[in-house]
Amino acid sequence: MHRTIVNVILLVGLLFSLLVLASGMSAWRLPDNQQGYSPEQPIAYSHRLHAGELGIDCQFCHTAASHGRHAGIPSSDVCMKCHKFVTSSFDVLQEEIALADKEKRKPKTIVSDELRKLYDTLGLNDPQQLIEEGAASSVPWVRVHNLPDYVSFDHRAHIAAGVTCQKCHGPVESMERMRQYESLSMGWCVNCHREATADGVNGRAVHASTDCAVCHY
Ligand code: HEC
Ligand code: HEC
Ligand code: HEC
Ligand code: HEC
Ligand code: HEC
Repeated sequence: MHRTIVNVILLVGLLFSLLVLASGMSAWRLPDNQQGYSPEQPIAYSHRLHAGELGIDCQFCHTAASHGRHAGIPSSDVCMKCHKFVTSSFDVLQEEIALADKEKRKPKTIVSDELRKLYDTLGLNDPQQLIEEGAASSVPWVRVHNLPDYVSFDHRAHIAAGVTCQKCHGPVESMERMRQYESLSMGWCVNCHREATADGVNGRAVHASTDCAVCHY
């Protein structure tokens, strides 16, 4: 009787570890892989709308990408360059203007719920109220990409070599909500370093090293 129970436990244990091993190997990646990660954000900010439809340049907001390690997340005053005036979607504003015209009155300012959240973060009652220099607090955006601390990655070197944002972040200009497009695994980095060194980037020769010390201090 006891032997049977022990055998069953052993068998279950064996099957379980085989399963973990098999799935881990077929997926070919670390268990903490975050590919496809797309957390909900405090404001439904859309890259498809801003970078795609409106065609705003990536580096208009991610100004630090060509200067340093981090591309950076824009502070709210960058948004307010436009959202002092754009308080809601174009369609909704057009409707209000048409309605006001029919009722012979001045159009009301319509503030959409998502932009209300932006003004609330800044502590503004009226979107046209000016923000004091440096007083702008930031929206608590949820970080999407995250390399472990023992990896050194630098945007500047890649942008300088002519690697496009999309090569690593995918078709951002069509993403309604930001998501991690690539695995960010070591194999992904090293493969590209090998290919880039062999084939060059946009016809220019580069030397992207595969020395351990380049990526691990
Ligand atoms: C109008 C400003 C603006 C523009 C233009 C813009 N972004 Fe962003 N970007 C943001 C904001 C705000 C966030 C943080 C919220 C989010 O993740 O959606 C962000 C987040 C990101 C992230 C994820 C950061 C993380 O948390 O890991 C990436 C990658 C990114 N942007 C790439 C791009 C690329 C590539 C382009 C151009 C195709 C671009 N962005 C254009 C404002 C902008
Ligand atoms: C060679 C691949 C690569 C390229 C090219 C690249 N990124 Fe990144 N990006 C990454 C990686 C990897 C991370 C995560 C970095 C970390 O966790 O330290 C990241 C993180 C980010 C973040 C989060 C904040 C930060 O800086 O850590 C933003 C925003 C971002 N990238 C925007 C951009 C934009 C905009 C461009 C183009 C101008 C760009 N990236 C080009 C690989 C790339
Ligand atoms: C260059 C100008 C510009 C910048 C900078 C900009 N936006 Fe916008 N944004 C617009 C325009 C224009 C619209 C309206 C587009 C439409 O729906 O017709 C809009 C729409 C929006 C909407 C949707 C509003 C609704 O009612 O549907 C949100 C949310 C938003 N923006 C957030 C942000 C945030 C957050 C930032 C800063 C990271 C930002 N925007 C930076 C121009 C800008
Ligand atoms: C799409 C191709 C591509 C990917 C993906 C990529 N790299 Fe690179 N990397 C390059 C190129 C090209 C260079 C520049 C080589 C040159 O300047 O000659 C480079 C340079 C570097 C450098 C050298 C920086 C310096 O200061 O000289 C480091 C470090 C680096 N990459 C780390 C990483 C890490 C970590 C990852 C993965 C998270 C990664 N790279 C992913 C193409 C890539
Ligand atoms: C081009 C950049 C790059 C190079 C070169 C590189 N690594 Fe990595 N390495 C990474 C990244 C990125 C990760 C994190 C992967 C992840 O989080 O999935 C990593 C993770 C690791 C880990 C942890 C893996 C784990 O299972 O948790 C070890 C160990 C490691 N690297 C050793 C090395 C050694 C040894 C070399 C030289 C033969 C090397 N790396 C060269 C980018 C690199």
